[in-house]
Amino acid sequence: MLGNFTYCNPTKLYFGEDSLNYLNTELPKYGDNVVLVYGGGSIKKNGIYDMVMEILKKNGKNVAEISGVMPNPTLAKLYEGIEIARKHQANLLLAVGGGSVCDYTKAVSVSVNCQEDAWEKYYLRFEEPDCELIPVGCVLTMVGTGSEMNAGAVITNQETKQKIGHVFASEDVMPKFSILNPKFTLTLPHYQMVAGIYDIFNHICEQYFSGEDDNTSDYISEGLMRSLLHASRIANQNPQDYEARSNIMWTATWALNTLVSRGKATDWMVHMLGQAVGGYTNATHGMTLSAVSLPYYRYIMPYGIEKFKRFAVNVWDVNPEGKSDRQIAEEGLAAMESWMKELGLVMNITELGATEEMIEGIADVTAVLPGGYKVLAREDIIRILRESL
Ligand code: NZQ
Ligand code: ZN
Repeated sequence: MLGNFTYCNPTKLYFGEDSLNYLNTELPKYGDNVVLVYGGGSIKKNGIYDMVMEILKKNGKNVAEISGVMPNPTLAKLYEGIEIARKHQANLLLAVGGGSVCDYTKAVSVSVNCQEDAWEKYYLRFEEPDCELIPVGCVLTMVGTGSEMNAGAVITNQETKQKIGHVFASEDVMPKFSILNPKFTLTLPHYQMVAGIYDIFNHICEQYFSGEDDNTSDYISEGLMRSLLHASRIANQNPQDYEARSNIMWTATWALNTLVSRGKATDWMVHMLGQAVGGYTNATHGMTLSAVSLPYYRYIMPYGIEKFKRFAVNVWDVNPEGKSDRQIAEEGLAAMESWMKELGLVMNITELGATEEMIEGIADVTAVLPGGYKVLAREDIIRILRESL
């Protein structure tokens, strides 16, 4: 391992069927004014809202709510939430939901005491907060993003069609605690479950497909991918399988809590392409990734052939005997494609609402990151997007 790095992750996790009880342990650490943040109503249908409210009441909290946080939370919604949290003089922001709710809550947290415009400061200039943050806690109900244990917060500006993620450098932005109860994820529709599974898989790929040195992170990544493939096949057949769902939840957290990126350049171009598609279509995050992944990986494979070969053998059990490097690498991607189809993932951006006319615009808002095996030029991006239609 040749990179230099710092590692710190201060989020305290409570995992398992009884984990919500630990909200009673956490709440006394904060002042009385809590803002409960949640999405479009799934937590009211499945009873999680009532369970959380009961605990908040029992602990004497004065609760305000930000409800209706949509998938791919918008800037307009962020401005609304900042006002609610300010008015309530929030001491704790409690996110109950998936990555959208959790990301959004972090964006509110860094903005409540900020005098400048949040979009300009955090999403255009990518500055770090220099104000006091409101602590964030999370009760996770949708698995995939890793938002429960990282400092990422993705916001969509609907006016400019820009979906931008800011992964804050400061660990102060990470949730103070996250409650992970796999049972809370059992009511997810199949579409969301598999979108989340692919999001996890791709987070690992984004960090795996970079660098040429021997790095412990890559071995951890291979283990996480193998566990995810195994559990995903069980959950796809039987979504109520607690053991599989619990492994998927734990893998999601480790896939993007900054551990496996240590000492690595990291790629993230599938996310850049997927986010650009998301800005235009408002499609489900994991499906934007699945739709562009294979055209992207097939395009860059010749530039990172050694790693793609290793991926084929160590993750997909491709037998390398008597085959060229290219054949081995291609077999790995073919195995990945059949797994993606088995799960029922979206395999093209047309299905998500993207059209040929949008391609230039999507390319214009695709950020180019330099850490992977090939730095993409605009023509490369257009070619990959066309291939994804
Ligand atoms: O809004 P409700 O009614 O709660 O419904 C949600 C939503 O429609 C539903 N849902 C969540 N938990 C449920 C449930 N339905 C039934 N039962 C449950 N237990 O699922 C839908 C999707 O939820 P959402 O939070 O949008 O999904 P996800 O967790 O995939 O989050 C996506 C957002 O996270 C960002 C994405 O860009 C996107 O904006 N990301 C954040 C990252 C980070 N912080 O590091 C990294 C990721 O790559 C990603 O970019
Ligand atoms: Zn993702």
